[in-house]
Amino acid sequence: MEKTIDQILQQDQFTKNDIVRLLKSEGKDEKALFAKSSEIKLKYVGNNVYFRGLVEFSNICKKDCLYCGIRASNSKVNRYDIADAEIVKAAKFAHEHRYGSFILQSGERADKQFIGRIENLLKEIKKISNNELGITISLGEQTKETYQRWFNAGAHRYLLRIESSNKELYNKIHPNNKEHSHETRLECLKFLQEIGYQTGTGVMIGLPFQTYDDLANDLLFMQKIDIDMVGMGPFIEHDQTPMYQYKDQLMSLKDRFRLSLKMISVLRIMMKDINIASSTALQAIDPLGREKAIRIGANVIMPNITPTTERANYLLYQNKPCIDEGADDCTNCMEARINMADGEIGYGEWGDSKHYKNKHIK
Ligand code: 5AD
Ligand code: FES
Repeated sequence: MEKTIDQILQQDQFTKNDIVRLLKSEGKDEKALFAKSSEIKLKYVGNNVYFRGLVEFSNICKKDCLYCGIRASNSKVNRYDIADAEIVKAAKFAHEHRYGSFILQSGERADKQFIGRIENLLKEIKKISNNELGITISLGEQTKETYQRWFNAGAHRYLLRIESSNKELYNKIHPNNKEHSHETRLECLKFLQEIGYQTGTGVMIGLPFQTYDDLANDLLFMQKIDIDMVGMGPFIEHDQTPMYQYKDQLMSLKDRFRLSLKMISVLRIMMKDINIASSTALQAIDPLGREKAIRIGANVIMPNITPTTERANYLLYQNKPCIDEGADDCTNCMEARINMADGEIGYGEWGDSKHYKNKHIK
């Protein structure tokens, strides 16, 4: 006889089929899933929510991912690159407002000048914050030497989404060339872990051609590579990208949102002490999306502190929230939102992945 959802939720380990059942759960079963993940979250990581001040400092990108609004071939984008002094100012803002950490994100580049510039910026941000600000970077695929240089300069966490653990699906959503290879992406994740970064990955949810099996395998993949942090969210089509052609084959936005919450919830049960971010794309679909994710399992949120003048140009997807707000507006708004979700902000703390720490104590 088929197991009930309640029975599955009592297990310590999930098979792929268990995960698919959980991802498809509805009504009372879905409620039981969310109740379980909320309970596990409180027990293992508590109700603290950590802020990561996010600066999207440039939308110049050499990649051409078929889903992304800032892909190199999109000639309609106004390209920008924020001056170093402005980036450092944003880091000061994050430090003064007692955000535990800071995230530097941009389109992908790997030229010598860029690599050196990031190295200097990292050192400068460490200096102006007396080493107090944690620094995460999210700058795509690089060589192991580059990752090491940036680590030595002060970055201690890295985000690199696998986008999909299924190589065939990955190949369908990227151009078919060496610059966009699934193997390279996997190898980069391995380098990051070897160097000692707290390493984060993630996937998009509700992609065309994606199946429940794919999503279950994505979660098993994260468990298998023993990842420290995850950020995942709904795929949102952008009309200036090639993938817009599949818009009629997609799940409704509401279903993509719902499925994203279930992915977060199942992952929290599978990997109890990792950091899970409540992605901004959730808020693009539901104004309270990020709060909902916090209730059922996420414990990290990334207020956008990119200078307002450039926010509207970093549109990976459409309907991106908060593009008119300033950094202060986001802080106040976030605080209210997190309190609403019964969370507490971990001000002034790095909020490291407990999983990373537990792994290295053993
Ligand atoms: N919808 C949702 N997420 C997207 N990303 C890029 N384009 C989209 C989109 N159209 C995500 C990718 C990338 C991260 C920075 O943003 O997963 O890794
Ligand atoms: Fe930006 Fe609310 S988070 S205004």
